[in-house]
Amino acid sequence: MDAAMDDAPILFFDSGVGGLSVVAPTRVLLPRAPIVYAADSAGFPYGIKSEAEIAARVPALLGRLVERYRPRLVVIACNTASTIALPVVRAALDVPVVGTVPAIKPAAALSRSRVIGVLGTEATVRQAYVDDLAARFAGDCTVLRHGSAELVRLAEAKLAGATTDPARYRAVLGGLFDQPEGARIDVIVNACTHFPLVAAELAAAAPAGVHFVDGGPGIARRIAFLTEGQGWPAGESVHRAVFTRLGDAERALAPALADYGIGTIEGL
Ligand code: DGL
Repeated sequence: MDAAMDDAPILFFDSGVGGLSVVAPTRVLLPRAPIVYAADSAGFPYGIKSEAEIAARVPALLGRLVERYRPRLVVIACNTASTIALPVVRAALDVPVVGTVPAIKPAAALSRSRVIGVLGTEATVRQAYVDDLAARFAGDCTVLRHGSAELVRLAEAKLAGATTDPARYRAVLGGLFDQPEGARIDVIVNACTHFPLVAAELAAAAPAGVHFVDGGPGIARRIAFLTEGQGWPAGESVHRAVFTRLGDAERALAPALADYGIGTIEGL
C-alpha cells in the first residue's frame, strides 16, 4: 500500500454507540488503525424497525460514508443491520465488509446445561439467520431468545453519563429466565453490540455462574486477519465519530467516545 492507503481508516457502523464494543477489542489488536465510528443517530433505534426499512436505509447510508471517508474496510458493528442487510451491503460496496454474527457457536461450546439465552433486539431475535446458527452450532441445546429495546436505551443512557436503575436490568433478564427452561440458562449471548457496554450491570443482575459472550473479540480477530500486512499511518492515528444527526444528545457522548480514543465528533 502507498502512504495514502496507509491512512485509510476502518469504518465502524452502528445505529448508536453499540459498535464501541467492537472498536475496543479491535484497538487492542490494531492500535495504529485510524477509526471512523459512524452512528446513525437519525435512524436510531434499529431494533424496532421493519426488515424493509433497515434493508433500504443501511446500504444507502454506508454508500455515502464510504464515499466520504474512503475506508479500507467496513465493519457493520450492529447485529440488527448485519443479520438483515449484510448481503445487500456487500453487493453495493466495493470495499470488504465484516458483519456481526450472534455468538451462538462460542456460547454452545461453553454451556454445560445446554440451555442458552440469546439477548438481542426484537428485529435480530426474529431473524431466520438466528435459527440457522442455532441449528448449525447449538443443535443439542435449547436456545431461548428475548428482544429488548430497553437494554439498548439503557446502554445509550449509561454512555451519555446517566445513572441507570439495576432493577431494569433484572427485568430485562427476566425475559429470558422466566421462560420455560429459562432457569437452566448458563450462557447468554449478547447478540446486540450495545449490550457488552452494560456487561457489569448485566452480570450483577444475573444469577451467579451465568456467563455472557459476545462477538466483539471474534470480529476484531477477523478485522486483523483481513488487514494483515497492510500499512498504517506513521504518526499518531486520528479517530473520529460521525453522526447522522448531531445534537445535544450526541454531544453528550463525547466523554464516552474519548474513553475509546475518539476525540473528534462531526455530522454527516
Ligand atoms: N447495536 C445494534 C445491534 O447490535 C442495534 C441497536 C438498536 O438500534 O436497536 O443490534
